[in-house]
Amino acid sequence: MKSCELVVLLCCVFLPEIYALNNGLALTPPMGWMSWQRFRCLTDCNLYPDECISDKLFRNMADLMSSEGYLEAGYEYLIIDDCWLEKERDENGRLQPDHKRFPYGIKNLSDYIHSKGLKFGIYEDYGTHTCAGYPGILGHLEVDANTFAEWGVDYIKIDGCYADFDDYEKGYTEFGQYLNKTNRPIVYSCSWPAYLESNKIYANYAYLSEICNLWRNWGDIQDSYSSMSRITNWFSSNQDRLIPYAGPGHWNDPDMLLIGNYGLSIEQSRSQMAIWAILAAPLLMSVDFRTIAYEEKQILLNKEVIAINQDPLGMQGYLAKKKFDIEMWVRPITPVKSRAYSYAVAYRSMRDDGYPYAINVTLNELSLNHSKGYTVKNIFDNSWRENILQVDQSFIVRVKPSGVVLFKFTPN
Ligand SMILES: *[C@@H]1O[C@H](CO)[C@@H](O)[C@H](O)[C@H]1NC(C)=O
Ligand SMILES: *[C@@H]1O[C@H](CO)[C@@H](O)[C@H](O)[C@H]1NC(C)=O
Ligand SMILES: *[C@@H]1O[C@H](CO)[C@@H](O)[C@H](O)[C@H]1NC(C)=O
Ligand SMILES: *[C@@H]1O[C@H](CO)[C@@H](O)[C@H](O)[C@H]1NC(C)=O
Repeated sequence: MKSCELVVLLCCVFLPEIYALNNGLALTPPMGWMSWQRFRCLTDCNLYPDECISDKLFRNMADLMSSEGYLEAGYEYLIIDDCWLEKERDENGRLQPDHKRFPYGIKNLSDYIHSKGLKFGIYEDYGTHTCAGYPGILGHLEVDANTFAEWGVDYIKIDGCYADFDDYEKGYTEFGQYLNKTNRPIVYSCSWPAYLESNKIYANYAYLSEICNLWRNWGDIQDSYSSMSRITNWFSSNQDRLIPYAGPGHWNDPDMLLIGNYGLSIEQSRSQMAIWAILAAPLLMSVDFRTIAYEEKQILLNKEVIAINQDPLGMQGYLAKKKFDIEMWVRPITPVKSRAYSYAVAYRSMRDDGYPYAINVTLNELSLNHSKGYTVKNIFDNSWRENILQVDQSFIVRVKPSGVVLFKFTPN
């Protein structure tokens, strides 16, 4: 008793006030569009007039995001990634956008994006510079938080380049406090775990979940199936460490969706959408809405996959089993019936032997054990595959090479 009191006393005297993020945002994984994966740091508007990071690009994307059904499907944040800044701050020490590429300023663009019913997000970096070499926020945390709030920013991604690893925890906390002081609700995305974990240092996710709404865990995604698979392998290898800290208001982020670009086949695109739904991952598209193919668009807009991703329980799924190079990913979701969860289950093939491989497991083997069995729905197929399945019954699923079959199991 005495020593307990002493601990309490010490903590109150010597530790700073504990701050917990309580901004009421991101109760389900954020959905939106971000420029990086597709448009990177294209800044030469003479060479790339339709693709360069510019006011025009974001207005084009905002128009299509709201008119082509993306906003209606739930994708609400339009987010500018790196390469929007001038190389110097203005005479008052404030951040300013590149004047040629953003001739009307950021507030004007933000108003336009809001006028389309969208929310507006932007990128900065905790260090001295952004990853692409533009001014970072270090030394200017308060004025920059205020600038973002004045610009009507609803979502901010803070990267971790050109910073000292030892400063992250304190620095990101401080910036979060300045954001909070603006009184504007702003989703706070923190990239610092990606820098630690890429160097095999464990991030403190318990703490992150108190100060950030989402955090990039690991390396950047690139436009290929092998890059996507390295990320899913990292997530499954570390799932026991990550899953407890995902939930309403705080999410692990495996990075952007590649769907609609150059690197994934249609099957692989479904695979990314399914696994990102199982992982309760932010759904951040990064695609040119002017050129996306119909079939890819349908994958991004699939209501049932989105509903799995946005499930209100907010539980992150996991790799439950791998057999004959077929991964079986499982996520508990609603509805919950007499204490039994429903589940999303993705059978994902890592095989390349040409034909749809038949995998044969029982639901018991996936720890789906509701005594009355489950009703099964095949999500991408839109057909009722089998109405009722008992848990000890062998269930045979054919999975195409590098493809996925995604099911929803509801307890009977
Ligand atoms: C700021 O933090 C307080 C305390 O956690 C919270 O109640 C409030 O909603 C936050 N405000 C914003 C704008 O994030
Ligand atoms: C944005 O800038 C344009 C061009 O100067 C101007 O016509 C428009 O009124 C501005 N919009 C807002 C919301 O200030
Ligand atoms: C599936 O597995 C069960 C149990 O091992 C077995 O009895 C059944 O014959 C298998 N079905 C097929 C089509 O391989
Ligand atoms: C199902 O599995 C869970 C966890 O493994 C266990 O707690 C529960 O009692 C099992 N239910 C049935 C009906 O076997």
